[in-house]
Amino acid sequence: NYYAVIMAGGVGSRFWPVSTTQFPKQFHDMLGKGDSLLQRTFKRLSTLIPKENILIATNAIYKELVLEQLPECTEKQLLLEPAMRNTAPCILYAALKIQQKDPNAVMVVAPSDHWIDNEQEFINNIQTAFNACEKEDILMTLGIQPNSPNTGYGYIKFENDDSEIKKVINFTEKPDLETATKFVESGDYVWNAGIFIWSVKSIVNAFENYLPEMNTLFCEGNNAYNTNLEDDFISNNYQKAENISIDYGIMQKAKNIYTLPVEFGWNDLGTWSSLHEKLEKDEDNNAVVNAKTIFNDSSGNMVSTTKYKHVVIQGLEDFIVVEKEDVLLICPKKNEQDIKQIVSQVKEKF
Ligand code: GDD
Ligand code: MG
Repeated sequence: NYYAVIMAGGVGSRFWPVSTTQFPKQFHDMLGKGDSLLQRTFKRLSTLIPKENILIATNAIYKELVLEQLPECTEKQLLLEPAMRNTAPCILYAALKIQQKDPNAVMVVAPSDHWIDNEQEFINNIQTAFNACEKEDILMTLGIQPNSPNTGYGYIKFENDDSEIKKVINFTEKPDLETATKFVESGDYVWNAGIFIWSVKSIVNAFENYLPEMNTLFCEGNNAYNTNLEDDFISNNYQKAENISIDYGIMQKAKNIYTLPVEFGWNDLGTWSSLHEKLEKDEDNNAVVNAKTIFNDSSGNMVSTTKYKHVVIQGLEDFIVVEKEDVLLICPKKNEQDIKQIVSQVKEKF
């Protein structure tokens, strides 16, 4: 049987001040298309996977938000985390819960906050990956052709033979700029899309090998999953798990990683620049959400506001200008990775 886990527990801090802890970006309609990124993700997956087999992993504080945005979901489909522990713990929890229902299941793990242009192509790729994972003990990730030395991604080097699904030689999570530049120039690397496919057997095996303590912790709940003991078990134990992403915890270490290079038009909407890329722009490459903006002698800017009807940008190049509920951020696009740190400073100061 096919299952999906949508990871919707991040806070999207690089999209501050629009994305906040109370209302992170996956719940926003970032591109103004009428539905939130989470709603789009659910809809996209439900063309291949039965709706009741799509689980949503998120922090317990977003329970009501998820149920409101996905009325077709029941509470049973929500994996509510009492603490933020990054992606590895929630993936193991989901895998064990699925394994208990169906030991032969294959699953896709998908972020809740990506943009995908060609959804049919995406579904075809997931089908191809499911077929492979049903037969082999492999951990699969989708590979994206890189177009810049972005240091926010995982980089994958693979054996470039004629097979459709490529054996991964190494996986490097978030390299520094120098390394990322070398990787992109070599032409031998793809980006990790952050979309993973495997059988529950294979991923539980990998946890056993590479994150054994976490595996022991969550296996203790095997009698509780899918019963009325589950909530208690999770609220008493989840926070004991190591805070680590699946990329650092498993993907960088495992030997049976494979990648399917894909071309469905992917954008991880991780930063203001990535949103700028997706939006319509004027002839000087300026993009605007909501306000009427006059750009004079300005190019490459990203402007977003809900409060102001009019904005004038004069003589500004490659800047992010974002207003949300009385907070104004002005930041050069090249420094946008710093917004994550700014958010924690701001919390202390205001
Ligand atoms: N449930 C849950 N719990 N979800 C989480 C948590 C958590 O504690 N932390 C993050 N997530 C969700 C985010 O909402 C997002 O949808 C997804 O998990 C990935 O987390 P990010 O924090 O966005 O990861 P990243 O962008 O730094 O890196 C990952 O994605 C890149 C592609 O977008 C890695 O997989 C990289 O290798 C990859 O290139
Ligand atoms: Mg991300």
